Amino acid sequence: MSLLEIKDLNVHYGAIHAIHDVSLEVNEGEIVTLIGANGAGKTTILHTISGLHKATSGSVTLEGHDLVKTEPSRIISLGMAHVPEGRHVFAQMTVEENLEMGAFIFSKDKSGIQASMKDVYERFPRLKERRRQLAGTLSGGEQQMLAVGRALMAKPKILLMDEPSMGLSPLLVKEIFKIIEEVHKQGITILLVEQNAKMALSIADKAYVLETGRIKMSGSAKELMSNDDVRKAYLGV
Ligand SMILES: Nc1ncnc2c1ncn2[C@@H]1O[C@H](COP(=O)(O)OP(=O)(O)OP(=O)(O)O)[C@@H](O)[C@H]1O
Ligand SMILES: [Mg+2]
Repeated sequence: MSLLEIKDLNVHYGAIHAIHDVSLEVNEGEIVTLIGANGAGKTTILHTISGLHKATSGSVTLEGHDLVKTEPSRIISLGMAHVPEGRHVFAQMTVEENLEMGAFIFSKDKSGIQASMKDVYERFPRLKERRRQLAGTLSGGEQQMLAVGRALMAKPKILLMDEPSMGLSPLLVKEIFKIIEEVHKQGITILLVEQNAKMALSIADKAYVLETGRIKMSGSAKELMSNDDVRKAYLGV
């Protein structure tokens, strides 16, 4: 059984049929990337996995638990965390308060929260330095680190990341991808949505190409990287 399994997923926004019969699998320990152009439906798929938007039909399971019928807060406690597109840190809260929000499922376990916070600060010394700063005043790259740190506070088995490289300078993009690899080495499975197909394929085990709500191609990241259609459409070569 895969850690995360999506079967024949269909998602609508009113009359708009955004996702058509999508199936995908993420095995424990993998980095899987979902690449596709603007409007392909990447965010919609992540929102549906996290329970923020409900599927019209099909199934989404995490270790066999049906997520389609599960509340988002319960989905977090099953071991799924989501780094949303555009980061969405709580601008009027400090860095530390943002991190605490990520651990709200353990809100009674003060020492557990402290231990998670220590781990996050070790991974991101920059966040520790700035722990009393309002999140809205952090730079774009720092906000992305905070969004990742906040997700890690929930001690997830699997991390969904929606375009973590968006809007960052090439140097910071490299840094974010390094962080993703480090988080993965720590034993966390990753489903990474990216428009930066080159970087995403370079760290992923497996990849799916989404076009207008449908999976057009899938395979090992290596295979897709050397596929002519992928190279033309997504790698600019
Ligand atoms: N709340 C909504 N109401 C109506 N249509 C929506 C809504 N959210 C998304 N859509 C539509 O669903 C389709 C998929 O959007 P989605 O945001 O999932 O794409 P995406 O692949 O994440 O794109 P991007 O790379 O630009 O973030 C688009 O055609 C979009 O206009
Ligand atoms: Mg999106």
